[in-house]
Amino acid sequence: MVLFLIGFMGAGKTPLGHQLAKELGYTFIDTDQVFELRFKQTIAEYFAEHRESSFRREERNILESVATVDNVVIATGGGLPCYKDTMEWMNQHGTTIYLKQDIEELYERLSPQTQHRPILKQKKGKALEKHISNLLNERKVYYEQAKFVFQGPVISPKTVINTIIF
Ligand code: S3P
Repeated sequence: MVLFLIGFMGAGKTPLGHQLAKELGYTFIDTDQVFELRFKQTIAEYFAEHRESSFRREERNILESVATVDNVVIATGGGLPCYKDTMEWMNQHGTTIYLKQDIEELYERLSPQTQHRPILKQKKGKALEKHISNLLNERKVYYEQAKFVFQGPVISPKTVINTIIF
């Protein structure tokens, strides 16, 4: 079984992914972490030297290479499902789970962390909120193709497991 966690930055994919993997006895993989290990630099450093299109191509390659592991929970970068046919590809190769958060919650979580997130471009206040809202509007058409959607600031691993497995 391959579980793909998708959603906007700050949605909680990495912490929930760790918890799910622990409960299920699966391996946990974070595509951002694999990216940084493979390129030996942070994503922010990579963005400073390359175009966003190279990042998207490389993160898709990473996704395809890690999804070959069996019994795995994969937390994906927030923009990955929106690249070309990635959403369709994930739906063919595993179970997609969208962690949905509202704009206010995302803003609260992301406003202290814009420095190391190139996509947020160090925006602050109202400009940041507007940027999150615009991006989320562009991306939700992809995210909403997920097989399962869980919403709310607190998503329990037990609820996810009971819903997707039983
Ligand atoms: C991005 C999200 C980040 C990371 C990169 C781009 C995005 O991952 O892949 O900074 O475009 O939304 P997280 O969603 O894990 O923060």
